[in-house]
Amino acid sequence: MWADSILDAIGNTPLVRLNKVGAGLPGTILVKVEFFNPGGSVKDRIGVAMIEAAERDGRLKPGGTIIECTSGNTGAGLAIAAAVKGYRTVFTTTDKQSQEKIDVLRALGAEVVVCPTNVAPDDPRSYYSVARRLEAEIPGAVLMNQYDNPANAEAHYRTTGPELWTQTDGRITHYIAGAGTGGTISGTTKYLKEQNPALQTIGVDPYGSVYYKYFHSGGEFDAKEIYPYLIEGVGEDILAGNMDFSCVDDYVRVTDRDAMVMTRRLAREEGLFTGQSCGMVVAGAVQWLRAHRDELSDDSVVVILLPDSGFRYLGKTYNDAWMQQHGFLREHRPHTAASLAEARVSGSVVAVPALATLEHAVAAMHEHGISQLPVLDHRGHVVGSLTERDVLKRLVADPDARNLAVSAVMGDPFPEVDGAVALDALLPYLDRGPGAVLVRSETGALVILTRADLINALTM
Ligand SMILES: Cc1ncc(COP(=O)(O)O)c(C=O)c1O
Repeated sequence: MWADSILDAIGNTPLVRLNKVGAGLPGTILVKVEFFNPGGSVKDRIGVAMIEAAERDGRLKPGGTIIECTSGNTGAGLAIAAAVKGYRTVFTTTDKQSQEKIDVLRALGAEVVVCPTNVAPDDPRSYYSVARRLEAEIPGAVLMNQYDNPANAEAHYRTTGPELWTQTDGRITHYIAGAGTGGTISGTTKYLKEQNPALQTIGVDPYGSVYYKYFHSGGEFDAKEIYPYLIEGVGEDILAGNMDFSCVDDYVRVTDRDAMVMTRRLAREEGLFTGQSCGMVVAGAVQWLRAHRDELSDDSVVVILLPDSGFRYLGKTYNDAWMQQHGFLREHRPHTAASLAEARVSGSVVAVPALATLEHAVAAMHEHGISQLPVLDHRGHVVGSLTERDVLKRLVADPDARNLAVSAVMGDPFPEVDGAVALDALLPYLDRGPGAVLVRSETGALVILTRADLINALTM
């Protein structure tokens, strides 16, 4: 038995149980593993479907050119179908996409135009605008427009939905997916809800996309929600025509960090070597399932759709240097005064003797780029603190104060806290008095912690 062409090998991807990630939650958590498609992603389903729809309605003729703006996966799906059917392909993509994705498109014979990511969709340089211009310029060219092309969602209504229904023997209770064009989530859900109207669909969005807010506000497009994020392929800065919010029951969102960390967990703990949006949707699924635990039972059958493969992200999510550069490799341990002290770049504290002059103290602040100093007596004991605020107040009152001893100007010592004190318990100390605390590091050195150190720790 054989397939007539590689196009017949699209779809019918396996459904696999998650065994470690999400452990302890009631019911069964399954993932639909779309990297089994020949182009390595769920988008193979819509590549061939959109081409055949354009053939049927007469827009695409023999020798024609297929144009598309694509983050890579749709391009691969289109390029595979175009290779089999004999069409030329020209794709626009953005400079945010991984090099591997662009290389795959070129390997499949496509021409690729890389456009800037951070420009408005209606900017002439955007990958949407460039694709429209190419369609107008190249004779016989057809823009597939996966965003608004009904053949996109329809392909999932015809294939992904029925596959999930059959593979779970109709037992699927929850369907969880990310959305870019919305074709996958909308088409699949439409079919599944026709079979079982009680099925719940949960969408997962990256922070920086408009969909989450649009869903929860009942239809407000908030441009303030748009900002750059790293997860590729999901979330939007536009409302795609294929995104049908009426089929979604709830929406959660996930940070870049949580998505990348979960992507790696899937590979290491489940043997599922998948892409970033897979980690995002699983992280979102676990978040939602934990929050709705009471609504689940042993009969719950949750299906999470995993769109693509890890091969496309070897230089990013699976690269330690890239993960480190973005601060994604740190463990999520609760911060304590000791862990903050350890993380402090400049190490131990810069202090000033009580008998030094104010001028000397100001020079030390300047040299080290700091705005507060502990003051030590001749035995090295902390006897006070000096802050920029104290210095300024004194100099305004008396310009000659620069020659005074620090001891004449200093305030109360910074409170010294135990290393085990948790980050949130440090806040009251920082809110009153000199606005810093001292903690002893493991080596016995005194380390000063300020609001800036807490902010750094929480944003890394
Ligand atoms: C990696 C990846 N995940 C998820 C999606 C989202 O799928 P859809 O466009 O059907 O909403 C895409 C779409 O480009 C993708 O490339």
